[in-house]
Amino acid sequence: MTSDLNLQDVLNFLFEVADRAGQELMANFNRVECAVDPKDLLVGGIDVVTCADRASEESILSAIKTNFPEHDILSEEAGAKGKGSPWLWVVDPLDGTINFAHGFPLFSVSIALMKDGVPVLGMIHDPILKENFYALKGGGAHVNGRPVRVSWNDKLKESVVGTVFPHERAYSSATNVSEVSRVVMRAQGMREIGSPAVNLAYVACGRLDGCWGLKLKPYDLAAGVIIVEEAGGRISDRGGNPTDVYTDFLVATNGLIHDELIALLSDDSAESVP
Ligand code: IPD
Ligand code: CA
Ligand code: CA
Repeated sequence: MTSDLNLQDVLNFLFEVADRAGQELMANFNRVECAVDPKDLLVGGIDVVTCADRASEESILSAIKTNFPEHDILSEEAGAKGKGSPWLWVVDPLDGTINFAHGFPLFSVSIALMKDGVPVLGMIHDPILKENFYALKGGGAHVNGRPVRVSWNDKLKESVVGTVFPHERAYSSATNVSEVSRVVMRAQGMREIGSPAVNLAYVACGRLDGCWGLKLKPYDLAAGVIIVEEAGGRISDRGGNPTDVYTDFLVATNGLIHDELIALLSDDSAESVP
């Protein structure tokens, strides 16, 4: 495949791929035989992988390799397969593994296609609610065929904001605890829903007014970033500067609460209580 790729065709392909991956997750949900292995002993067993991560990933990667054999792939469990292509598939076969492993019904499949380092297509699939959040560059953001856009709230105190606690909190000072302690006292609501991809999908459709995360990986972010952008939202780093999916700290909002949220996230000296 070359640069004449028809992105609408690729999007149609992605609906099938995400749906099959979701079926693999659902076939293993609440199944005791789906073993949970600690992934990284450095993080004291916080980060885990299950047979569902692997089954979902196998299904996604085999479809990509069959249809786009020349493309590069970066996938959470399988790692990076570089062939020098401008096209890169970025795959999180199960975002929210800890939720999944506990039978908590909130997790997603996140798949993006990037060209020259920029996402051009993103799909986040929630197999429980059967929702597909997706965007094609320049084509707007959609949920199950319906166009969506970010919310209109312009005050943090009237907003609901999402985040995630990084696995690295077990051994690093990047815990997100001080940021959370500030935002939770200023926002109308704060949610840690265990899936950064769902956070971004929910910003895109207005269920959340904003979200942030640190120590996230490109496969947590790539699909969600283009979906938020296409929904009219704003993406930046902690300082409010434009950023990419390789950032260490990502803030995504409806644009209207962005500066207020950034100021609070950046200001270690801010009081928790207004
Ligand atoms: C992780 C989870 C977790 C978040 C991590 C992510 P995974 O993704 O979403 O909530 O704190 O930063 O990497 O392992 O479930 O795909
Ligand atoms: Ca993830
Ligand atoms: Ca994952």
